[in-house]
Amino acid sequence: MLNKTIAAMLNDQINKELYSAYLYLDIANYYAEEGLDGFAHWYEVQAQEERDHAFMFRRYLLNNGETVTFDAIQKPDKTYPNHLSPLVTGFDHEQYVTSLITEIYHKAFEQKDYRTMQFLDWFIKEQAEEETNADDMVKKFKLYGSDAKGLYALNQELAARVYTPSATGPAM
Ligand code: FEO
Repeated sequence: MLNKTIAAMLNDQINKELYSAYLYLDIANYYAEEGLDGFAHWYEVQAQEERDHAFMFRRYLLNNGETVTFDAIQKPDKTYPNHLSPLVTGFDHEQYVTSLITEIYHKAFEQKDYRTMQFLDWFIKEQAEEETNADDMVKKFKLYGSDAKGLYALNQELAARVYTPSATGPAM
């Protein structure tokens, strides 16, 4: 069994990860409608990764004898005035998720819950990668996105992303 507060925070993180998947699928919808299939594909893959993250939190709670409770997933309500804005939303969102993981980690540290800290280590690393990726997308778009040829090339590059279920995953 886990500390009550930590279990509740981990349970809430399932919802947050599923919302992330929802948000990224919504962004994929936007790009698909705009004819930018490579961008849409990149966010579809990202949504799959977020779903995987939700499953990892669920599995960790179950492995520790905790009850998992599902809450309603928030509706993605963002509107995108231009092709850059979803990328900025994605970067902001990843920084927010990092702050959530950091809060759980901090609580686990306070409670000397080394098992949860070990579980979260994978997410700390993953968040660093995801923030870097999201930041790179914003930077690349600012450099190349305003020119039709650059946008075409960027779209091609993003279309090549391959979904690979995480081979290692967090310590359970
Ligand atoms: Fe699961 Fe992008 O954080």
